[in-house]
Amino acid sequence: MTSQVRGAQLARLLGQWHALPGRRRSPDYAALAAAVRGLLADGRLALGVRLPAERELAEALRVSRTTVTAAYRQLRETGHLASRRGAGSWTMLPGTHRVASTGLWTPLDDRDMIDLGVAALAAPPQLVPAARAATEDLPRYLGGAGYHPTGIIELRDAVARSYTDRGLPTSAEQIMVTSGTQHALDLVLRLALAPGGSVLVESPTYPNALAALAARRARVSTHGLSTDGVGWDPDLLLGSLRQIRPKLAYLIPDFQNPTGHLMPAELREKAVAAAHAAGTDLVVDESFVDLPLDATPMPPPVAAYDRHSRVISIGGMSKPYWGGLRIGWVRASAPQVQRLAAARVGVDMASPVLDQLVAVHLLADAPAIVEARRAQLAAQRDALLAALAARLPDWRVTSPSGGVTLWAELDGPISSALARSAEDVGVRLAPGPRFGLDGTLERFLRLPFTLPAADLEEAVGRLAAVRYDLDRSARRQWREATVIA
Ligand SMILES: Cc1ncc(COP(=O)(O)O)c(C=O)c1O
Repeated sequence: MTSQVRGAQLARLLGQWHALPGRRRSPDYAALAAAVRGLLADGRLALGVRLPAERELAEALRVSRTTVTAAYRQLRETGHLASRRGAGSWTMLPGTHRVASTGLWTPLDDRDMIDLGVAALAAPPQLVPAARAATEDLPRYLGGAGYHPTGIIELRDAVARSYTDRGLPTSAEQIMVTSGTQHALDLVLRLALAPGGSVLVESPTYPNALAALAARRARVSTHGLSTDGVGWDPDLLLGSLRQIRPKLAYLIPDFQNPTGHLMPAELREKAVAAAHAAGTDLVVDESFVDLPLDATPMPPPVAAYDRHSRVISIGGMSKPYWGGLRIGWVRASAPQVQRLAAARVGVDMASPVLDQLVAVHLLADAPAIVEARRAQLAAQRDALLAALAARLPDWRVTSPSGGVTLWAELDGPISSALARSAEDVGVRLAPGPRFGLDGTLERFLRLPFTLPAADLEEAVGRLAAVRYDLDRSARRQWREATVIA
């Protein structure tokens, strides 16, 4: 399962490779090899991708073929390329650079620890009144057994209405309530993906989605997002769908976790068409759809372009409301919902009735709650950006127009080392490699802005100190005496 990158595509990804910072008098082939290594390390060029033939790349870059030949040779020598005569060359990483991407999350057990590993808000003040109101409603359900595999009808109605309000007419039969978005993803994978099936994901992506895919022993290919612009490269994304023809693609188009990118309407439409042509089901994770900041206008839902039941949307209460509720949902065709419900009976039967009633009350108050969340997040994002600009000015960050995370480009491949040192000063981080496969993304760090501004500022101060210490510990402590003869 390899995909291929064409000469023109690679040339575009490489951009100004011949004028990269730090290049002094290195020959062209070395600069080209360095630029390809950079793309691999950043996850923008996936592993296992076939590179263009030397002649094709030479033409696309307007360099001599010998330059490309020498660059490919150097990439082979450094373990970034595997070639087979007559078959081509594939991207890879040297074995020593692989870092496991498991173990993202550990519960907060230390009260002084500032936890930047979890991108979720504390509960809103409306939660307790909603829970009280839910207990008042509970007697209406107590006469039955309480098992509702697709969810209680009031909540399914409320969720269906929220899709309809977003311009996607939806009936309650198309909604299944789950115990969180993660549960929704797991159920969809059980239904739509045979063990070992092929899946396309963004790189970087949400680590627990990778964990769910690993549990299905999925064969995962990646589409590398750029840090700037809109993130997705339409040509590459659509090309990957066409070439790989994965059984399933998992996308987070609304303020992508971790990059914060928002997929434009045009690409949503094209991705649905390409997925249909490739026989691919699109699983669209809408966890952050309620959280545009700065009045960012929202494109239509991806499912609005779906004519063939190719798109399964998943979402939930965790980001705008509270993760502790454990309420999520799937929006699919009515027959798919029935199949999902049948699958879930073998897993957990149904979601708790009381929690679903709490969700109904929160959704009834959605405009006020969500408006307050957006204002809070925008202020916290700005405080985090200001602290980073003041204390870590070499890190590159762009301000996301929604969601709850920044994706910072660091001043070196130090993300895991920084996370280890940060633990010692009471800051928990999720380093870049956790969001990808194969240990790439060491130059990136996800920073959520879900904590109060004062905590974020304190955390950045501690990170700045740790960053400085990393440099000092890397520096040699003393020099060997030089012999002058
Ligand atoms: C993209 C994405 N999907 C799913 C989840 C899990 O959500 P839930 O708490 O609803 O299971 C998260 C939580 O961080 C997320 O960021």
